Amino acid sequence: MPECSIPTHGLKILVVGQGGREHAIVRALARSPRVARIHCAPGNAGTAAEALNVPIGVMEFEALAAYAIRERIDLAVVGPADPVAGGLVDHLRAAGVAVFGPTREQAVLEGSKVFSKAFMRRHGIPTARCESFSDADAAFAYLDEAWRPEGIVIKVDGLADVQSTLVTSDRDEARAEIARALVERRYGEAGDRVLIEERLIGPEVSLLAFVDGRSWKLLPPARDHKQLLEGGFGPNTEGMGAFCPAPGATPEVLAVLDASLRGMRAEGLGYPGVLFVGVLLTAAGPRVLEYNCRFGDPETQVTLNGLQTDLVDVIQACLEGRLADIELAHDGRHHVCVVAADPDYPGEVSPGKAVTGLDDVAGATLLHAQTRETPAGPVAAGGRVLNVVASGENLEAARAAAYAALGSLRIGGEPPRFRRDVGQANAWDARILTADVDQPAAGLGAGQT
Ligand code: AMP
Ligand code: GLY
Repeated sequence: MPECSIPTHGLKILVVGQGGREHAIVRALARSPRVARIHCAPGNAGTAAEALNVPIGVMEFEALAAYAIRERIDLAVVGPADPVAGGLVDHLRAAGVAVFGPTREQAVLEGSKVFSKAFMRRHGIPTARCESFSDADAAFAYLDEAWRPEGIVIKVDGLADVQSTLVTSDRDEARAEIARALVERRYGEAGDRVLIEERLIGPEVSLLAFVDGRSWKLLPPARDHKQLLEGGFGPNTEGMGAFCPAPGATPEVLAVLDASLRGMRAEGLGYPGVLFVGVLLTAAGPRVLEYNCRFGDPETQVTLNGLQTDLVDVIQACLEGRLADIELAHDGRHHVCVVAADPDYPGEVSPGKAVTGLDDVAGATLLHAQTRETPAGPVAAGGRVLNVVASGENLEAARAAAYAALGSLRIGGEPPRFRRDVGQANAWDARILTADVDQPAAGLGAGQT
């Protein structure tokens, strides 16, 4: 692990990204007395109020590196998957900037689901049964062979621009999805290979751990509500909300995290940053669905909300390979994030709608996701527009505060689209899990490989 020293005070930090996750990261960094100035590229209307927004896109690696040199940036944090998998960290490091995150090579678990599956097999990490295909006819044949009444999951290997994982119990829809990737090439190179995976049933838990290559320290376990509709129905979205602590981070689940870190270290994939392990809790035990080598969205909005340790200190400990030496303190409260989307989401949305009612959000924190600043005020710049984050002594109190705050928000004059059951179990969860929501939120887990 390279030694990356950052100054003790007066830090200039560059956060790369423009969503609710990045607004949450900016907020957490801004709480540090060590920080002088935060720059956010390109940022949104929310980060504009707390950081200096920089009009450079997340994939403009040369321009970002040149900016970091010019502005003497001390530390960079990269939010979204694409620049992480694409190697922005390498570019910024080559420019002499300390960066929290993996190099392109270290981010292979983020960029390739086929690699991730093989990695899990090599290290005995439990996951769903799965086969991958680059030939459509072979994929269609396997689809018929692997078909089960509960349905199937179709994924593409790489990072697609759109939500590309299909969970379906309609075989024709599964076939059409395979054709979209392998025949019509709708996902470009990301769809060169398609994975056909058994459909697992059960609640999910997102484990976000700080890592330094050898050690891990867990943030409160969170749950992302992926599906569009209440009860966990409807198509998958990029996330309609999240809460923490979520039940399910049992010793068996934490063993999976430990094994993942060991495997990464053994294969030279350790890095200073965040490892996100998406786990599905089946009746037969935990199964890893995915790895991300970065903060999750919207999990970050809840897990950083109660972080009491200075985030800059945590990042520095990761960069210096001494994460094991620091204590990760959390407020022990429950945190809920409700995504307020354009009323037309997930259909086609027209950007530029006025976002109003923001000043009346009491008892909650408002994070911006897809918004843009204009002289006339913030406007929507995409489908998932705002994140309402609230906390409480228990989950119900946090939920009540978040939903009370949502009432005033308008997008293009209309109430936003949102799920009313963020923080509650999906229709099928009760069968799998006993209620262990009262597990402590602090002292969550840590390990060394
Ligand atoms: P991924 O594209 O791997 O991040 O998966 C996105 C979402 O699809 C997950 O968060 C799950 O909700 C769902 N999913 C993925 N794989 C499976 C599976 N094997 N069984 C059931 N649901 C899945
Ligand atoms: N919440 C899932 C992700 O960030 O990929």
